[in-house]
Amino acid sequence: MTIIVTGGAGFIGSNFIFYMLKTHPDYRIICIDKLTYAGNLSTLKPVMDNPNFRFVKADICDREAIYKLFEEEKPDIVVNFAAESHVDRSIEDPEIFLRTNILGTQVLMDACRKYGITRYHQVSTDEVYGDLPLDRPDLFFTEDTPIHTSSPYSSSKAGADLLVMAYYRTYGLPVTISRCSNNYGPYHFPEKLIPLMIANALADKPLPVYGEGLNVRDWLYVEDHCRAIDMIIHNGRVGEVYNVGGHNEMRNIDIVKLICKELGKPESLIVHVEDRKGHDMRYAIDPTKIHNELGWLPETKFADGIKKTIKWYLENKEWWETIISGEYQQYYEKMYGNRAEV
Ligand code: NAD
Ligand code: DAU
Repeated sequence: MTIIVTGGAGFIGSNFIFYMLKTHPDYRIICIDKLTYAGNLSTLKPVMDNPNFRFVKADICDREAIYKLFEEEKPDIVVNFAAESHVDRSIEDPEIFLRTNILGTQVLMDACRKYGITRYHQVSTDEVYGDLPLDRPDLFFTEDTPIHTSSPYSSSKAGADLLVMAYYRTYGLPVTISRCSNNYGPYHFPEKLIPLMIANALADKPLPVYGEGLNVRDWLYVEDHCRAIDMIIHNGRVGEVYNVGGHNEMRNIDIVKLICKELGKPESLIVHVEDRKGHDMRYAIDPTKIHNELGWLPETKFADGIKKTIKWYLENKEWWETIISGEYQQYYEKMYGNRAEV
């Protein structure tokens, strides 16, 4: 079995590669990654010498490079993680989001049609459903919830999802889509909430909470997401969407306070800053379908997962300190330098 994993030098893609090489030691995994600011080759160091692993630096929008690789490797399955993934960056500059997330998906699916595969899996997000109100805790996203996006990022992911379903209906491409809630765990890029707060707290820097911090996200330990995708690509029904989430809703402010507590840092580091434009209020996944059809359930409880994650950041300072010492500094200054306190 040969699997192409795109975006494997990023957060979830790298965790998926580790998971797959461990769980299916006889599989061959080919990682395609453009190595954007979010992709780090050092992340893949633990598997670089594995004879069943190959890394290829390529842009999923580069049709020639992608076709050449499919010709060489004749993959059975393609799992597409490659994306521009940060909502705040999409608000600053949407164009690259449309290019990578939509056109890149098209190129990959065209390659799948041309060379033949048994499964194309699109890694999507719960953000395609928009948000839920805080005063309706009875509401959850199901696979039938209408697409109703808020940001350029989520719109680009929704555009890709629609295209994936069109390739299924029009060309009969054997596709599946997973829509997962917020992941956390090792190798999470430090521009995202949890790793950013850990890194800032360790440096006794302000912890910038957008608005009042009452927004709710449904957090899932990254390995649980990887296991869900493994189940879907093997046993999921073609042409179906599977929501992935573990009923673990938390307010941003409570996450940040918890990180302070775990690190022994004072809550006085918390600063409330100008809100994200179009900020989604609440995400909450109903995972009934993947549970009933595939038997998936999350294994890591948040209380344990967040401890493991913090421990990982403490033990792997070199990984994230290298990232935040480079180009990231300009990003941080641009996004947070002039952000008014509220
Ligand atoms: P990430 O930003 O950490 O990693 C993205 C990876 O894709 C990077 O390695 C980057 O170099 C690579 N990449 C970007 N553009 C590329 C291109 N044109 N060609 C090839 N490679 C390219 O993202 P992540 O958080 O690991 O998310 C992975 C996927 O999962 C995304 O599709 C995202 O929409 C989805 N998702 C993420 C979450 C989450 O909580 N992080 C939740 C649900 C779904
Ligand atoms: O729900 C799945 C999505 O989760 C994925 O599709 C995205 O790729 C992923 O980035 C994530 O999106 P969010 O916007 O939810 O994640 P982020 O970590 O950027 O923000 C989480 C919450 O924390 C959100 O309500 C905004 C808030 N926040 C974030 C940052 C970076 C802050 O309050 N302060 C911050 O500095």
